[in-house]
Amino acid sequence: MEKHRIALIPGDGIGTEVVPAARRVLDAVAARHGIALTYDTFDWSCERHLAEGAMMPPDGLDRIRRHDAILLGAVGYPGVPDHVSLWGLLIPIRRGFQQYVNLRPIRVFEGVPSPLREARPGDVDFVVVRENVEGEYGEIAGSIDIAPAANLNAERDFPSMFEPVHGSAPDIAGRGTANPLGAIWSAAMMLDHLGHPEAAGAVTDAIATLLSTTGLRTPDLGGTATTDQFTKALVELL
Ligand code: NAI
Ligand code: MG
Repeated sequence: MEKHRIALIPGDGIGTEVVPAARRVLDAVAARHGIALTYDTFDWSCERHLAEGAMMPPDGLDRIRRHDAILLGAVGYPGVPDHVSLWGLLIPIRRGFQQYVNLRPIRVFEGVPSPLREARPGDVDFVVVRENVEGEYGEIAGSIDIAPAANLNAERDFPSMFEPVHGSAPDIAGRGTANPLGAIWSAAMMLDHLGHPEAAGAVTDAIATLLSTTGLRTPDLGGTATTDQFTKALVELL
């Protein structure tokens, strides 16, 4: 059985809601595909910054350097300027681990109304690749709740990091209604990166099936399902 050690950084706000959801899906798909995942969870966040004066400890990067991958939720908290969360955590990880490829798959799923109203399922299925470590870095205007992202070190000298494109959504945090799809799809990208394309495909297929065959949706997509209900349905499909 292949073993992988994952560093989980839930972060702030809905990051702490969608990362556990992604972990449930990972555990379900890993069990079926003979993959052993172990997790170490780190409380690095704006809340930690407020309590202890830093987003992460000074030797933070060394603590996750030997993990096989990093799964991050989102960071950002009212009262903590965004440059603190960016420069105190996200950018040190992306640069320190030379995660120079920022990979963002984009798909229109059947059952999810797209702002591109004329697009049919299959018409939109592309990937944005952004240079991630050089030059000025200015944030990810607007946001999509289901979009995933990978920060890749292609040489695999360092762990790569997987995270939803969205932020910590303080406006809905704590309600248990965050859409977990961005985090779950990011987890699928992580499985692919770790050498398990079938397991990754099983997750994205389950997402597509759930969206096209049921009306189950979190409120951002016009439904009433909670994060928990949505994740449970996905796990049952797997
Ligand atoms: P945001 O992505 O957190 O929220 C934008 C809007 O989308 C909000 O109305 C929110 O409720 C909604 N939304 C986002 N993700 C959702 C989900 N999974 N389910 C349901 N609704 C969702 O972006 P915003 O408001 O600009 O930033 C909030 C905080 O997050 C800031 O502190 C910002 O710096 C941080 N942020 C962090 C990122 C990261 O960790 N990589 C990326 C973007 C923002
Ligand atoms: Mg993010």
